[in-house]
Amino acid sequence: MKTAIVYYSMLGNTDYAVNKIKNAIDCDVIRLTPEKAYPDKGFKKFLWGGKSAVMGEKPRLLPYRFEYDKYDRVIFGTPVWASSFAPPLRTFIEENRGGLKGKDFSLIMCCSGGGTDKVTEKLKKALGVDSLTAQVTLIDPKDKPSEENESKIKEFITKLKG
Ligand SMILES: Cc1cc2nc3c(=O)[nH]c(=O)nc-3n(C[C@H](O)[C@H](O)[C@H](O)COP(=O)(O)O)c2cc1C
Repeated sequence: MKTAIVYYSMLGNTDYAVNKIKNAIDCDVIRLTPEKAYPDKGFKKFLWGGKSAVMGEKPRLLPYRFEYDKYDRVIFGTPVWASSFAPPLRTFIEENRGGLKGKDFSLIMCCSGGGTDKVTEKLKKALGVDSLTAQVTLIDPKDKPSEENESKIKEFITKLKG
């Protein structure tokens, strides 16, 4: 199955997870970058990112290449922001709605606590699908390395290969 991993990462945790997964499966990786970077320090980081997620914003992205007909499967990677997926993914889904039709979807979520059931529901709604093939929730895998995160990444890879 030809796979694209499409992700956003502000602080490097999702990036860390994506890098581990990309080395284990055959895939292309597309990192989304907003034209206007979100503040990434202090309280402002939570304020602006949180507001943007709650409002369902679709920030403009720097140019990326997604040749949708090359892929059967798309794995999304995102930090959890205010119990949602990060807004750059919303932009991507909107910009590629037609090209994403009929693909198999999976999800990598990085968070510091929880609330990820809602993230899954919101992503399914945005994609217009009833289910995701595989999903994994990791607790700050770069900043708080743990056996649990590493074994969840392995399990996720096994499921993708199955
Ligand atoms: C704007 C913002 C909102 C966040 N909201 C949540 C949340 O609702 N639940 C949670 O567990 N973590 C939340 N976090 C923490 C991040 O999801 C977590 O640190 C994640 O691993 C960061 O991924 P990244 O390093 O790829 O950006 C939030 C972080 C930011 C910046």
